[in-house]
Amino acid sequence: MKKRRIVVTAALPYANGNIHLGHLLEYLQTDYWVRFQKMRGNECVYICADDTHGTPIMIRARKENRTPENLIEEVWKLHNDDFSAFQVGFDNFYSTNSPENLAFCTDIFSKLQQSGALITRTVEQLYCPNCKMFLPDRFVKGTCPKCGATEQYGDSCEKCGSTYGFDELKDAHCATCGCTDLEIRGAEHILFDLAKFKPYLKDWLEQHTPGDVARKLQEWFGEDKELLPWDISRDAPYFGFEIPGHPGKFFYVWLDAPVGYMASLKNWCDKHGEKFEDWWQNPDAELYHFIGKDIVRFHCLFWPALLHASGYKGPTHVNVHGFLTVNGEKMSKSRGTFLNARVYLNHLDPGYLRYYYACKVNNTTDDIDLNLDDFVQRVNSDLVGKITNLASRGAQMIGKRLDGRLGEPDEEGAALIRDALSRAEVIAGHYEARRFSQVPVEVCKIADAANAYFDAHAPWKTIATDPEGTRKVLTTILNLYRILAIYLRPILPVYADNAAALFGEEPWTWASLETMLVNRPIGEYRYLATRIDPKAVQAMIDEQKALFAAAAPASAAPAPAAAQTAASPADVPPLKATIDFAQFDVCDFRVARVESCTAVPKSKKLVRFELDVGPLGHRTVFSGIRAYYPDPSVLDGKLVVFVANLAPREMKNVGTSEGMVLSAGMAETGISVLTVLGSANPGDPAC
Ligand code: MSP
Ligand code: ZN
Repeated sequence: MKKRRIVVTAALPYANGNIHLGHLLEYLQTDYWVRFQKMRGNECVYICADDTHGTPIMIRARKENRTPENLIEEVWKLHNDDFSAFQVGFDNFYSTNSPENLAFCTDIFSKLQQSGALITRTVEQLYCPNCKMFLPDRFVKGTCPKCGATEQYGDSCEKCGSTYGFDELKDAHCATCGCTDLEIRGAEHILFDLAKFKPYLKDWLEQHTPGDVARKLQEWFGEDKELLPWDISRDAPYFGFEIPGHPGKFFYVWLDAPVGYMASLKNWCDKHGEKFEDWWQNPDAELYHFIGKDIVRFHCLFWPALLHASGYKGPTHVNVHGFLTVNGEKMSKSRGTFLNARVYLNHLDPGYLRYYYACKVNNTTDDIDLNLDDFVQRVNSDLVGKITNLASRGAQMIGKRLDGRLGEPDEEGAALIRDALSRAEVIAGHYEARRFSQVPVEVCKIADAANAYFDAHAPWKTIATDPEGTRKVLTTILNLYRILAIYLRPILPVYADNAAALFGEEPWTWASLETMLVNRPIGEYRYLATRIDPKAVQAMIDEQKALFAAAAPASAAPAPAAAQTAASPADVPPLKATIDFAQFDVCDFRVARVESCTAVPKSKKLVRFELDVGPLGHRTVFSGIRAYYPDPSVLDGKLVVFVANLAPREMKNVGTSEGMVLSAGMAETGISVLTVLGSANPGDPAC
C-alpha cells in the first residue's frame, strides 16, 4: 500500500497556565492517532507549539515582574515535561514566538493585502488610563445589566448567562488595577473581510468537517446572514508580532496562533532536511487538526478562509472533540477535580489515564467523563486483571518452571491466535476513524477468550505432570498477549515497548502481527502495570485541592494560571543583604488579635485589619493579600504577628495603615498570614 504523508496538529496550549487533564484529552487522542499512523508505516508528523502571545500573558508577566519572553520560556519547559511524561510523542513542540512564525504571518498578511481581503475600520473599546491599555472583554469587570450580579466579565454574565456590550455593563472597572475611570476610545483596526469567502467556506465546511459541526456552522450561512469581518489587529501594548507597516499595531493572537502550526512544521522540516512545501502545499499530503469544540469558529471559518485567501492549502479535516468532565461535573477547583498533569503524575502512572481516555473517546463532539471510580475499576479489572495478568502469569511460569522458552501452540491455541489476528483490520479501522473506545472493547474480547482458555487448561495444575503440554498452553497465552499489546501500542506506547522487550523484540509496528513467537527464549518478567490503589486517587484530589486553596483564588486574569505544583528553586527570590542583630532588633514584633478582617471596597488587593494589641491599644492595618483571602473574615479572632513600630502610612483613598501584618509564601503558590499557635496575649512581644 502507498505510504501516506500526514501532518497532524493538536491545538496550541496557552502559555499562561499549566497543562491539566482536560488538555490531555486532546493531546492523548491525537497521539493515539499519530502513533497508529506511524505503526502502519505512514509518514506522519505530530506538530504542536505553545501559544504565547496576547494580553493575559503580558499582564501575568507584568504582575510577576518579568518579561513575557522569560515567562513563556519557563512555561514551555513545564509543558514540555508534562507532555513527555504523558508519552505525548510530538515530532515538534515549538513556540508561536518564533522567527518562522513572524515570517509566515508577514507573508500571509501581505498576500491578504494584495488580494484585497483586508479592510480598516475604527473600533471602539474600553481603555484603562491607569494601565494605559485597551481592555479586552475578559479584562473588564462590572455588574451584569440583566441580573445585577457583580464582578462579571465585560461581555457576558456567568450567573445568568446573558451577553452584552461593554457599554451596557454597570460599574465597569479594570480587572487588573480596579480603576473605575475607564474611557471609550476609538482606534483604527485591520479586519479580515470574511464575507468575501462565503461560497468557498460553505463548500469547504461540507467536505472537511464532521457532519454535526458542519451543520452547526452552516447556520451562519443563511441567505440573510452576513459573515462579519474579523478583527485581526490589536493596539500596543500587546505581546505579539507588530504588523509590518503598521507601527503600534499587533497581530491578534488568534491570527498568529494557527499560523504557528505552519511555523512549527517549518521548524521541523528545517531540522530534518525536509521542504515545507512538500508537506503543507503538496496536494498528496494530508493535514489534520485536532481541536476542542470551543475553538471551532477559529479553525473552521477564519482559518480555512485565511489560508485560501493567502494561497495556502487548507486542512484535509478538522477533528473536533468534546470537553472533559470529572465525576459528571465540570472540573472544579474547590472539589479538587481541576486536575493538573503534574499533580496526577505525583500519584499515578500516566499509562492508566492513556488507557482510560481511550476507553471513552470516539469521533463525536460529546463530552467525556472521567469518573474516578470507573477509572480505578476499568484499569484494575481490564488493563491489569484481564490483559496484563496474561503476561505476568504466563511469563513467570515459563520463566520459573520451563527454562524461559516458548514452544508451539496446540491446535486450539493456534485457532485462538488466528481469531485474534483476524481482528487486526477491524481494529485498524477503529483507529483510523478515531473510534478509539472500540479498541479496548475488541482487545478485551480477545483477552476474555485467552483467560477462559488459560482457566480451562489450568497450567498451574498441569505443570508438574505435563510440562510440555503446559508449555504449549503458555505459548498460546503469551502470543495472544503479544497481539493485544501490539493492538494497544498507539494507546500505551511505553507499556507496549516494555512488553516487546520481554519478548526480546524491538518496538512493534503493525507488521509485527505477521510473526508468531515459537521455540525461542523470552526475557524475565518485569513490571508492566499493577493495580491502582484508590488511596492514590484520593491523595491526588487532596493535593490538588490544597494547591488551589493555597493559590490565589480571586486572580484578576481571565484564565488564571493554575497553581504551580512546586516552586522551583529558581523562583525563590534571592536573599537581601546581611544585617546585624542591632539592625534586626529595631523592629518591634507584637502579637495582635484580629478583631475583624474585611475586604476594602473597590480594591482588588487590600484587606483591612482591625487589631486588638492589648495594652498597646487598637490598630488599623491594611494589607495587600486580598487575592489570597477571598473571604477575609476567616482571619477573625486569629492571633497574628505584626510590626508595631512601623511609621504610619497614608494609603490613597483608604486610610492610614498603622503597622504591618506578617505573611509568608510566594505570590504564585499563595500567601498565608502568620498566625500564633498556642497561648499568647495581644501586645506580647514576638521574636
Ligand atoms: N491557544 C488556543 C488554541 C490555539 S490553536 C491555534 C487554546 N488553548 S487552550 O490551552 O485553551 O486549549 C488547548 C486545547 O485543549 C483546545 O483544543 C481546547 O479545546 C482543549 N481543552 C482545554 N480544556 C479542555 C477540557 N476541559 N476538555 C477537553 N479539551 C479541553 O484554546
Ligand atoms: Zn487598569
